[in-house]
Amino acid sequence: MRILAIESSCDETAAAVVEDGCLVRSSVVASQTDLHAEYAGVVPEIASRAHVEAILPVMERALHEAGVTWREIDAVAVGHRPGLIGSLLVGVAASKAVAWALGKPLVGVDHVHAHVYSGMLHRAGEDSCHQALFPALGLVVSGGHTSMYLLRSWTQMERLGATIDDAVGEAYDKAAAILGLPFPGGPNLDQLAQSVTSDADLVDFPISRLSTTSLDFSFSGLKTALLYQVKGVPNTERAKVPHPPAAEMTDQRRAMLAASFQKAAVGAVVLKMKRAIEQCEERGIKVQSVLVGGGVSANSRLRSAMQELAKKLGVALVIPKMAYCMDNAAMIGGLGYELLSQGITSGLDLQPVPTTAC
Ligand code: KG4
Ligand code: ZN
Repeated sequence: MRILAIESSCDETAAAVVEDGCLVRSSVVASQTDLHAEYAGVVPEIASRAHVEAILPVMERALHEAGVTWREIDAVAVGHRPGLIGSLLVGVAASKAVAWALGKPLVGVDHVHAHVYSGMLHRAGEDSCHQALFPALGLVVSGGHTSMYLLRSWTQMERLGATIDDAVGEAYDKAAAILGLPFPGGPNLDQLAQSVTSDADLVDFPISRLSTTSLDFSFSGLKTALLYQVKGVPNTERAKVPHPPAAEMTDQRRAMLAASFQKAAVGAVVLKMKRAIEQCEERGIKVQSVLVGGGVSANSRLRSAMQELAKKLGVALVIPKMAYCMDNAAMIGGLGYELLSQGITSGLDLQPVPTTAC
């Protein structure tokens, strides 16, 4: 089955042609990073206008690169939740128009769930499709979400935990801004942190556990701890002993703080994943594989920590190729295929929804 997939939930206009779930025939992503850079964040109105301009050429390019015509498409999949409402609206409207004009089925796909699928994607000639082993633990680490799921199949996802404040990618972006690094912050912070080769002199930033059993995440305390290292702890009138001013910022200190932040952020994710697998075991569920996705799955430290954890726990690790870590439409086509295979379709009354269902 050949699916044309569309993704427009935030600031990337993307289209892909995906065959039988995991074979990517084309994946086109038009990024708006330059348009938003001067605001150091995504401006929703600018994003939706840019989607309107890009959506048709991006779909046409995806078909062209895949070497298929509109008539050779069997179904249309679209990321219809969660995201910026104006951005989602563009992709949903376009996908409905294509499905209606071709007389082909349409399926709405949850963007966050699709990130969990992204490790399955591959191109012709690359290693063949991974075998997803269920029950699986899904982890989404992105700019908008940090969530863990128990998957019994691709269509049965139980959310185990999520962030109660910042998403990990959002925390990366804010931390990068605090350190004076350019937008987009996450990859730049990662690169700077990699210049520090030893953990020996790092600041011991707090890792939020929330409670002894919680599977939720919190990254706002870590962000504040970094802010205090950079700007100094604010002195209130009630402080008996005044806090000293922050140490002078040098290139070396900036890199050390970036690496310290990265160690704590990745440490928090690893801690909760381990806890989730243990809690599943207590429920009599033996997790067979770990499926990681989302923009932060491109992070160097997270990738090696995940490999280490999976090896230690004896579970398979499925982590996306770099091309499918960030927002893309191929992951929408992949999960869309699994939904369609289960007979799940959407009507032409499909609505964009700013929040995820779970
Ligand atoms: O999945 P994604 O493209 O968008 C959302 O659905 O949110 O993720 C984007 C996020 C941004 O916050 C970006 O800074 C972060 O992923 N990111 C990284 C890295 N590459 C992208 N964070 C840390 N290290 C990276 N290498
Ligand atoms: Zn995303």
